[in-house]
Amino acid sequence: MKIAHISDLHFGKSREQNENIEALVGSIKDFGIDHLAITGDLTACGSAEQYKGIISIFENNNLFSAEWLTVIPGNHDLFNYILRYFHSATDILKRMHRLPAAIYNSLKFNIEKYQKELQQFYFYFQETFFNSIKPDQQAELFPFAKELIENTVLITIDSNTAIGLKKNNAASNGRVHLGSLEVLLQDARIRDKKKIVMMHHYLQSEKNMIKDHGRGYSRFMKLENRKETTQLLIDNDISLVLHGHHHENVEYWINGDTLRVLNGGGSYCGPCWNLIEITADDIKTEVINGIQKQSFCPDHKKLRKIK
Ligand SMILES: [Fe+2]
Repeated sequence: MKIAHISDLHFGKSREQNENIEALVGSIKDFGIDHLAITGDLTACGSAEQYKGIISIFENNNLFSAEWLTVIPGNHDLFNYILRYFHSATDILKRMHRLPAAIYNSLKFNIEKYQKELQQFYFYFQETFFNSIKPDQQAELFPFAKELIENTVLITIDSNTAIGLKKNNAASNGRVHLGSLEVLLQDARIRDKKKIVMMHHYLQSEKNMIKDHGRGYSRFMKLENRKETTQLLIDNDISLVLHGHHHENVEYWINGDTLRVLNGGGSYCGPCWNLIEITADDIKTEVINGIQKQSFCPDHKKLRKIK
């Protein structure tokens, strides 16, 4: 079975970006895959127009169904009540302090707005959620599991959360709600299958993030309960974690060779995507640039192995 993994499409950022996404999705479908997994930031700021635009690309390529497509939200999809006022994270930093108090307060995170945005995400992609396995009947939208062929399941997580603005530029920090995930991972329907987890946020330590990307990253992209999340995934024999958020394609391992992680965020800047080939006893990964197979993305750093 072949799964294509892409992330951080940011549809609606510019006309050029939209054309790149159209070409990327078309080339993936032509490549001959069995499933497409997208780990968040499908839109630039979660507007109705952007949702309809990205969905029309999936529809044009016959990918808009539960059988073909699995998606989870990123911060750009859910925190649009903040992001739609600003073009980029840099603008937020420059302009936030100039806002009148009333507007500033209206832009603060709150759980009601977050849940409304999550419902909107679900509304647009509901056709792709059919027949999903949930922790219980009353379960929230995420997490859920989806059975694929080759005894494999995709586990979807919403790693975004409505947390304060302090040291959380561009609404980029996250938190995994572990309770329902723990229940789902122990479900008899999926417990003994090969499990691939999809989330938006990095599992790399803050120390490694700063080493790779500079001290500025201490204010960005943190998963607040990274250690607990990592341990839960290790304890449940997760074969592979897919994520995005930081815009590069890179594979790395957590705790030595214990947990394998693949970032597909490079789809943002170039035609990069990750090919995951699953056989009875192996999972192979490879970064594909456009239609030509290459061992690394020229628009980004070469595929790195981080221990
Ligand atoms: Fe992104």
